[in-house]
Amino acid sequence: MNIIYSMKKIVLILGLAAACAVSRADEGMWLPSLIEARIIDMQDKGLRLSAADLYSVNQACLKDAIVQFGNGCTANLVSDKGLIFTNHHCGFSQIQSHSSPEHDYLKDGFWAKNLSDELPNKGLTVKFLQYMEDVTEQVLEGLSSEMDEATRKKVIDANRAKIIKNAVAEKWIRATVDALYYGNQYFLFVYKIYEDIRLVGAPPSSIGKFGGDTDNWIWPRHTGDFSLFRIYADKDNNPAPYSKDNVPYQPKQFLKISLKGVQENDFTFIYGYPARTSEYLFSEAVKYLAERGNPAKIRLRTLRLDIMQAEMAKDAGIRIKYAAKQASVANAWKKWQGELSGVVRLKTVEKKKQTEQAFTLWAADKPEYAALVTQFSKLYAEIDTYAFVRDYQTEAFNANELIRFAANFLPFAEGKKLSTDSLIQRLKSVSDDFFKNYVQAIDQQCFEVLLSEYVKHVPKGLTSPVVERAYKDYRHDMAKWTASLYASTLFTHRDKVEKLLRLSPEEIAKQLNKDPIFSLYRESNDFYKEKVEKPYNALNSQIETLYRAYMRGLMAFQSERPFYPDANSTIRIAYGKVSGYKPADAVYYLPQSTIEGIMQKDNPDIYDYDIPQKLRDLYAAKDYGRWAVDGTIPVGFLANNHTSGGNSGSPVLNGDGHLIGLNFDRTWESTMSDVVYDSEICRNIALDIRYALFVMDKLADAGYLLDEMIFVE
Ligand code: ARG
Ligand code: GLU
Repeated sequence: MNIIYSMKKIVLILGLAAACAVSRADEGMWLPSLIEARIIDMQDKGLRLSAADLYSVNQACLKDAIVQFGNGCTANLVSDKGLIFTNHHCGFSQIQSHSSPEHDYLKDGFWAKNLSDELPNKGLTVKFLQYMEDVTEQVLEGLSSEMDEATRKKVIDANRAKIIKNAVAEKWIRATVDALYYGNQYFLFVYKIYEDIRLVGAPPSSIGKFGGDTDNWIWPRHTGDFSLFRIYADKDNNPAPYSKDNVPYQPKQFLKISLKGVQENDFTFIYGYPARTSEYLFSEAVKYLAERGNPAKIRLRTLRLDIMQAEMAKDAGIRIKYAAKQASVANAWKKWQGELSGVVRLKTVEKKKQTEQAFTLWAADKPEYAALVTQFSKLYAEIDTYAFVRDYQTEAFNANELIRFAANFLPFAEGKKLSTDSLIQRLKSVSDDFFKNYVQAIDQQCFEVLLSEYVKHVPKGLTSPVVERAYKDYRHDMAKWTASLYASTLFTHRDKVEKLLRLSPEEIAKQLNKDPIFSLYRESNDFYKEKVEKPYNALNSQIETLYRAYMRGLMAFQSERPFYPDANSTIRIAYGKVSGYKPADAVYYLPQSTIEGIMQKDNPDIYDYDIPQKLRDLYAAKDYGRWAVDGTIPVGFLANNHTSGGNSGSPVLNGDGHLIGLNFDRTWESTMSDVVYDSEICRNIALDIRYALFVMDKLADAGYLLDEMIFVE
């Protein structure tokens, strides 16, 4: 088919999909520049703003008050001095990095009393979207229907590179060209990156992480999951590396904060950076997730978490060192469990199979689509084992900290021509970060347990030969092998690593090749790349090609369905309403939680529920100040905005675009929404912004920060 013709058809289908999508519209994460197509529906539901108020390139608009925070979260501006709100868990590793047993900001919280107290954070950046643009036509230029996939990809990559180059006008601008709908559409995103971001304030974890992993992904929720940072700029308001001469950034727009609160059924929307969803996955891929992938990953993480938690309970220093690592391991571990039970409960595999059957019937006379379902099934059957080994490689092999650390040294051993100085500088910094939070006892136990799982479950022929050999040499005594490895490697010793980095590149290579952990990593990695990753990637690229056609076909086949592109860490708007839900027969969850719930959970004997004494006192005295609402303090609320990981720290906005909450989680029953969204039951969890303000004002005596903000009463 003529490529221009087929492209026009795609654009038509995409347009149609957006226009037809009135039903089920709570589902979806929409591109801001195309929000025009949704705006009538949003206004019908309670938005009192125009499309240009949400997104415009010609005037300041809401998008200018939203940033991607680090690489994985969202934050929002709330003052004309660059002050941003994000979640406590989004700033967690920064808060941790400034902490020690003497100044434990995780435990006690941190509040800068003035600008000069604000703490700089190495490596932390925020990015502002400047503009976004459909570049499908340019990306697909020069393609012909006879091209094989590899040539096609080359042409596309070259076109993308050209577009990016043209878009980057200044040194602080970054641009990406991202594929949407499996490469049926391409968008250019142009960002301005700020790199001097300072910690302003964080409540103690007993507020910011209240409920810990016990309550994580769960409603009712009472976590005060917020922290504050500030963006700094040079005197021209442009990005600059950290300097004491930098000044607070002046935003084009910042959010006003509504103190009016929320009621059930109120319109809300969310602006942020969801990372990854797979809503159009083929049935076999969901089946893999439910039957093999998630169960294996959950089991491996359970083993790892048990070890971490036991060691963390023994010692405050270890608890700080492993706080962020443990939280991140536990977070996905718990989510995968909810996701697994969600796709089983919703019978997602069966339902997808029915759709695929109907699709095949519809496609019978359409050569472009007719064989897709059969081809998918065949390829998924072939990729299954490789996908499984890949999961083991990530969760059982590379999950070992020492192996990941050793991996950084690979460039030396490969004998490439190196710019040695910068590499050594980089490794020094990697090594500082590594040893700052490394506890050998934890890592060594994990190694023993995870490698035991690896040899047991990875199929013969795909197991790393070094591992097999050693395991045999040690007569299947994993403990003994592990002990000998950890006793003889240099990577457990900071001084030895530092000494290594003072040698010549040739000497470094020699030492590395003698090191048992490095050799284990290197040989296993070479083997994995050749025997697992290569065939996996080959099959996966065929699968991706099928998805490109399938996505197109699906849009034509289900023309009434509201299609939106899967999340891919680009900026999106989701909208819906404040709403409770029915998690089970005869149970209804109200959409709002209050301080009463915190007091009901409060228990000094349970780490996750032990609140600061001052909060108990404020509660006892009902000393709520201006933050009291009907004699209590609202803490969290639910809405049915379609969100994902990465939406943490996203502002939850009311119909006027005023800040009412900070998104930070989803409910247990919604965790499958990355694969299948169900508007009956899927809910995002937000912190009621008034609880954050109460904590700052009454608990932290940081009320001076409120003076920077604008409230709408
Ligand atoms: N579940 C939320 C998210 O996906 C919060 C995670 C942080 N909290 C925790 N207890 N680990 O990021
Ligand atoms: N806590 C998640 C995050 O860090 C958001 C929750 C979700 O996955 O929806 O982005």
